[in-house]
Amino acid sequence: MTPADLQAAMLACTDSRLNAALQYVLKTPGKQLRARLVDASFQMFSQRPCEAVVSVATAIEWLHTYSLVHDDLPAMDNDPLRRGKPTVHTVYDDATAILVGDGLQAAAFGLISRECGLSAEIRIKLLAVVTEAVGFAGMVGGQALDMAAEGASLTIEELGQIHRQKTGALIRAAILSGALCADADATDIAHLDRFAGAIGLAFQVADDILDVTQSSSTLGKTAGKDLAVEKCTYVRHLGLEGAQAEAERLLAEALDSLSRYGDRAAALADLAVAMVRRET
Ligand code: IPE
Ligand code: IPE
Ligand code: MG
Ligand code: MG
Ligand code: MG
Repeated sequence: MTPADLQAAMLACTDSRLNAALQYVLKTPGKQLRARLVDASFQMFSQRPCEAVVSVATAIEWLHTYSLVHDDLPAMDNDPLRRGKPTVHTVYDDATAILVGDGLQAAAFGLISRECGLSAEIRIKLLAVVTEAVGFAGMVGGQALDMAAEGASLTIEELGQIHRQKTGALIRAAILSGALCADADATDIAHLDRFAGAIGLAFQVADDILDVTQSSSTLGKTAGKDLAVEKCTYVRHLGLEGAQAEAERLLAEALDSLSRYGDRAAALADLAVAMVRRET
């Protein structure tokens, strides 16, 4: 099976309304930063073409997309706009949006587990890293902490923990997955892990900053939302300039952890800069 055939098989949906909602969501893929991280991290350790990397990158984007569909639900952030379009629950309904997210999550694990271009050993390593990233100790747990913290006053350490879990964990999984596809050794994985920790947190700090510095039309999602619902964010905690300085400090830390790789890490380093100094 080609990666495209495998993806189509994982997304085969028997209900026409659910399928329409799924196609609606997939039609606007977003910046695809996590897919690009998988690719850039793979390229650091392998020059050979590898179709399987596309499947792994796609699976991680499906997981991210699922997290956004659920994040926007009325029970969570209650957002009407995502990727420049009305959110799926406003176009269809809450139940359909929940099911689109659930289905994308299952499809993502199906895609990784069935990707025949990778050895069974690598697929199991990928599944372990990715399931941990989206589970209770990762994204889902982080989303729960994030909601519980609305209106609360947290220490910067507690806030950092929320951001690491809700956003950093999947970014880490994307970075490590690329290296795992290239069969990178444990020492290289440990170095990348340090990079991933810093850039994953920096990415959510940048998201907090953009919420106050950009318009809804530029972002394609509701600007000023965090302030309106008293979300715990880096801007609320450190002020705009303090948050910007923290994002730059984390970026420098991330880039420093790649310095040992020289030009081999150029694509990953460029992506790291783009993830922090972005406008959307
Ligand atoms: C937004 O992520 C949600 C966060 C985890 C901060 P992105 O900014 O990567 O969203 P898309 O995929 O480009 O829409
Ligand atoms: C979302 O964080 C994190 C996940 C979806 C896991 P936010 O709630 O800050 O993301 P946006 O700002 O709605 O994209
Ligand atoms: Mg949220
Ligand atoms: Mg949100
Ligand atoms: Mg946000």
